[in-house]
Amino acid sequence: MFIRLDGEGPIYRQIYRQVRDAILAGQLPPGSRLPATRPLARKLGVARITVIQAYEQLDAEGYLDSRRGAGTRVAAALEGLLEARFTGHDAPIPRLSSLARYAADNRPGRPVGRNTPILDWDFQYGRPAVSREMLSDWRRSLRQAAISPRIGYPDPMGEPDLRESLAAHLREHRGLLADPARIMVVSGTQQALDLIGRCILNPGDGVVLEEPQYQGTRHAFSAIGARLLGLPVDGDGLRTATLPDDPGHYEAPIKLACVTPSHQFPLGGVLPVSRRLALLQWASRQDAWIIEDDYDSDYRHEGGTLQSLYSLDRSRRVIYIGTFSKVLFPGLRLGYLVLPSTWVEPMRQLKWLNDRGSPALEQRALAELFRSGAFRRHLERNARQLSERREALVAALREHFGQAVEILGARAGMHLVARWPDHPPEQSTALIQTAAKHGIGIYATSPYYLHSHPTSLELLLGYATLEPEQIREGIKRLKKLWSVLH
Ligand SMILES: Cc1ncc(COP(=O)(O)O)c(C=O)c1O
Repeated sequence: MFIRLDGEGPIYRQIYRQVRDAILAGQLPPGSRLPATRPLARKLGVARITVIQAYEQLDAEGYLDSRRGAGTRVAAALEGLLEARFTGHDAPIPRLSSLARYAADNRPGRPVGRNTPILDWDFQYGRPAVSREMLSDWRRSLRQAAISPRIGYPDPMGEPDLRESLAAHLREHRGLLADPARIMVVSGTQQALDLIGRCILNPGDGVVLEEPQYQGTRHAFSAIGARLLGLPVDGDGLRTATLPDDPGHYEAPIKLACVTPSHQFPLGGVLPVSRRLALLQWASRQDAWIIEDDYDSDYRHEGGTLQSLYSLDRSRRVIYIGTFSKVLFPGLRLGYLVLPSTWVEPMRQLKWLNDRGSPALEQRALAELFRSGAFRRHLERNARQLSERREALVAALREHFGQAVEILGARAGMHLVARWPDHPPEQSTALIQTAAKHGIGIYATSPYYLHSHPTSLELLLGYATLEPEQIREGIKRLKKLWSVLH
């Protein structure tokens, strides 16, 4: 038997582990004799007592028979059991639940990183700009939070300090008055959507979405069996005149509408007050709830702060969702909800059932980031930087494509949509593939359409991680390829 000390943990544990693994792997079959302790100790250059300790541990766990005089042998009782455990290469295939089957069939998770080629001019949406200063502020906040970590289970609603900071942030930046008792901290928008869905939806219940829409929203509700109804949007966001009013028309009620009123995702419309009021009235008539996904309102490049749908709502039917995936970074997995009062208790219980509460350390570090003023500094710096980048992108598109391109949704956020009304949508595939071969990452909007398709060539362009100079160069190169292709 070959034993190699691997330096991990006490020496007797290293010997124990290696002998145990050799037994389990069938290299030391039941009944076979183990080396005597004295020569083995000599061979390994350790004290004999260390080997004895390892054997005693194995004996105590039932791996050995060590009868006096017969030497130490692998337990005969293991005969036949190891074979069953180690033949057969794969585990049996589980019979998946409908939720897991949905996930397996639809693959809602984006492949992350590794195999994607590095592109010099990558207009991918969703990646935020993360400065060195912000990262060092974040590290400092984490260290501060780690001085006295929460040892017990967290409050499933979230850390009190963070909820206070969020209430102040919402008041200051969104003019939204929220009682901290109704703010719930979650692991990003995705968990917020999932919990809301689980809170009120039964299979077959209707959910109104914008068409096109964020895939995360679509999958969250579809996965739990909801019936999705994508309603058209125009330059002003959801066309509320198309909201269905006849409940008898459907077998199950419409319980929920999910909108992005400040910056429709992905096409960028801002829902005007007339439509906001119409949506609120519709929800009252239908006894439905509205989700306001306010994913990127921290960055408004033109015009002042927009009033939230939540603030306009007198009937208390709006659930507000915010995220730190854009203002900080998505790996943080932190977001929050502002709940109607009647939702607090059921959501608290669901969150407890789901994960007992989001990790307290990160929540406390985030509260510290707010307290120290670093969050505000970061937000202001980022907003300035994003505005420059967006201006560079708009100007480059205009310079190279003139009036042939329509630019949608550039007033806020970290992305815009470029549309060429005179070009059919089918042209996007060749353009995207050719661009990628030349180091330019551009993206189709078609994956965001549920029932329909873009009617012309449309591209979703994120600009958060590119310097203005890279943006200009990327679009210039894109135009060259475009001229060759078209
Ligand atoms: C419309 C919309 N909502 C929310 C999010 C953020 O989701 P999460 O908070 O789960 O990272 C995104 C991210 O791309 C988005 O586009």
